[in-house]
Parts: sequence; structure tokens; C-alpha cells
Amino acid sequence: MSETTKMNILLLGSGGREHALALALAASPRCGELYIAPGNGGTVEVGENVALAAEDPAAVAEFARETSCGLVVIGPEAPLVAGVADAVRAEGIACFGPGAAGARLEGSKKFSKELMDRAGVPTAGYASFTDEAAALAYVREQGAPLVVKADGLAAGKGVIVATELAQAEGAVRSCFAGEFGAAGATVVIEEMLTGPECSLLAFTDGKTVRPMSTSQDHKRALEGDLGPNTGGMGAYSPVPIVTDEEHAAMVAAMEKTVATLAAEGVDYRGCLYGGFMLTPSGPKILEFNARFGDPETQVVLPRLENDLVEVMLAVAEGRLAEVELSWRDEWALTVVLTSAGYPGSYERGKVISGIDRASALPGVTVYHAGTSLTDEGEVVTAGGRVLNVTALGATFEEARDLAYRACDLIEFEGKTLRRDIGLRALKGRAAWDA
Ligand code: AMP
Ligand code: GLY
Repeated sequence: MSETTKMNILLLGSGGREHALALALAASPRCGELYIAPGNGGTVEVGENVALAAEDPAAVAEFARETSCGLVVIGPEAPLVAGVADAVRAEGIACFGPGAAGARLEGSKKFSKELMDRAGVPTAGYASFTDEAAALAYVREQGAPLVVKADGLAAGKGVIVATELAQAEGAVRSCFAGEFGAAGATVVIEEMLTGPECSLLAFTDGKTVRPMSTSQDHKRALEGDLGPNTGGMGAYSPVPIVTDEEHAAMVAAMEKTVATLAAEGVDYRGCLYGGFMLTPSGPKILEFNARFGDPETQVVLPRLENDLVEVMLAVAEGRLAEVELSWRDEWALTVVLTSAGYPGSYERGKVISGIDRASALPGVTVYHAGTSLTDEGEVVTAGGRVLNVTALGATFEEARDLAYRACDLIEFEGKTLRRDIGLRALKGRAAWDA
């Protein structure tokens, strides 16, 4: 196939991450038809939204075959854990995203911690339990602070950082009472680490690791990093407070992890997301995700200069060693606009205005997350995280100011946002000690 041959692409997912992926894929001269399943109110402008059971391996493989797709890109974790990538590869179609064996890195915190031990990469001390009484006894023996995690997928909400013993006990009871569904049948209890967090996403074909630019999410719902954990309330890239030494340690940890997976027979092709805490004794891994971060993708991809289709094909075909990544010399910051009540219950169907005016500001892109398009062509809210307002700027401060200017041009009933995205990074590392 010549380098300019167009290919049809299927992208799975419906978040702001997928809108960012869709725009980057569509920008490639290699991109033919772009299908997004199920997509959202923003991706509908970039390609064709299709109703497809995205977590059903056979259904996805069949759709990709029937539409002659040359590449399938898997955005979220659930289809990865379900083995969609395995089914697509079995059809002989290139797929960006690990198979079920690799996705366990995200699908099971216990598996992930055990792999980190085998790889010899730094992480928080931990123990795991399938029995409530034993977990409670451990919690009492260790004392607070502790971090209690439901083992399986819980949309970023199954982690409780407990500063008091009673809180840790309550978290253990909630997990075993089924608050996080089957995800909580096994509970991982960790030592609490301190320090700034930093995400490092990397492309890998299972042999070569190409780190992307660093990024930082804001997981708590409320300003000052208070309130419950969410899927992510805002992000920036790169992370200005990371030292070269810390960066090298993070990259080394990712490389060791991929090498250990390969040695154990896991063929991991996709994005490996390392969530690190920059502790006083060096970066330690809090978690791995088997996919791009959301909203980290919305600040990382706009800075990537490479053709995303070429990079993803190289990943899928095991040729990543041929690719060097290059990054725009600009800062990116995104603010997530949410529906009032998120991460708890919230209303849907609120009409959104001002997206056009915000997008018209030079350097601003408004990625849709939980939105849909009504039959009348109105964009309405359809989820907890509604829009990701992203700005690029010559300085961190410029990107930040521009993103907030754009946020203020968008209105919908219940619009909620954190005003402090990137504020600590702007103040410098000492802001984490305050
Ligand atoms: P995770 O889904 O495992 O990344 O956890 C979500 C968030 O909980 C992280 O981004 C941290 O803010 C916090 N967290 C997780 N594990 C720890 C830990 N061992 N110590 C301190 N905070 C943690
Ligand atoms: N932003 C956190 C995540 O994607 O898991």
C-alpha cells in the first residue's frame, strides 16, 4: 500500500478524548471514511457516528470488515478489557489498543500491582483482599491515611483516599457492599503517597516505547483538589514542574513495564498511560491505564506534530521504532465543563450555546464529551462531563487565560467548572507543599 492510500477508520468511544482523536485522525491525508461508535455531538461533524455495540468483540470486528476499515482505534477501557482488539486482529485488521491480556493492566488493579512488582518499578506498598473482615483488620492494623481501591473498572470513581480510619473502614464496606459493582469484589489497599501527580502517556508496539509529552489531570470535583474523584476536571501539557531526572525515571518505569509484559507473552500495542506521583523519593506509579487519558488526550494530541494515522499504524504493525515524535512548542490547557451534580446524578438535555464563539478564538478548540445533537440540530448536554475547552498558548499563563475566556463564552443550565485548573503549576513546585 502506498503511503498516500486512504483507509477507512473505525474509532470506538464517545468522550472528549474521542472527539480529539477523531479530529487528529481526520487531519491525516491517510484517513478515508471515519466511523465513530457511538460518538457524540462533536464527532458527528468529523465523521459518521454509528450505532454499534462497541463492547461486543464480534460486532466490532464484523463492522470493521464490512466497511473495509484498515485501522480500528479503541478509545475507552471497556472494549479493551472485553477483548475487542483481539477480535479485530483476528480479522487481519490493524488495531490500536491492547488485547484483553494487556488491558488487565487497567482492568484489574491487583494484576497491575503484581506486574509492577515483577517489573521492579516503584509504586505504593499494598495488600489485596477478597474478604471484608480481613480487609477491615488490615485497615485497623495499618491505620490512616490509606487509599482504598475497588479492583476492577469503576470509571475513575472506585478510589477513596482516606485520611481518617473511619473513612477507610467505610470505603472497604462500600466496596464489599457492591457500590462499585463487580469491580469491588476484590479490594486493594495502598499506602498513601504524597506529591504532585503527572501522567505520562506512551505509544508502544510492545517493543519500542515512545513517550508522549507529559500532562496533568485534575481528578477531584472541587477547587483546591477537594471533593470526590471524577473522570477528570481539566488538564495541561506539558507539566512544567517535572525535572529531567524525574522524567527519565518515569520513562524507565514505562519501558520496564512494557519489557516485562513482552517477556510474559503479552503483545501490548496501543497507548500505555502511567499515572505517577512525584514523591520526595522519586516518581512512583499510582496506576496504569491501557488507553489514552481523558482529558489528557485533549491537551497532548493538539501538540503532536506527527500524522496520527501513521503513528497508530506503526504501533499496530509493530514498526514503532521507525517513528520519532515531535511536539509543538506551545502549552495546552483544557477546562472540563460539567453538568451540575457530577460525579453524582445530574440532568441532561440542556441546550448549549456559545460553542461557535468560543471556538472562533484563535488557539481554542472545544471538544465535545457528553453532548448530543437533537433532530432540530441543537447541541444539548447528554453526560456529566459535557465539553472540554482547550487552548494553546505561547506560555502556560496565556493558554490558561485563553481557555477560561473561552469557557465564559459558553452557557448551559447547570454549567459547572473548576476555576483553578493549572493554578498550582503556575505558582511552581512549592505550591504542592503549601
Ligand atoms: P487511580 O485511579 O488509582 O489513579 O487513583 C485515582 C486518584 O487517587 C489518583 O490520581 C490520586 O490522586 C489518588 N491516589 C491513588 N492512589 C494513591 C496513593 N497510593 N496515594 C495517594 N493518592 C492516591
Ligand atoms: N484522566 C484520567 C483517566 O483518563 O483515567
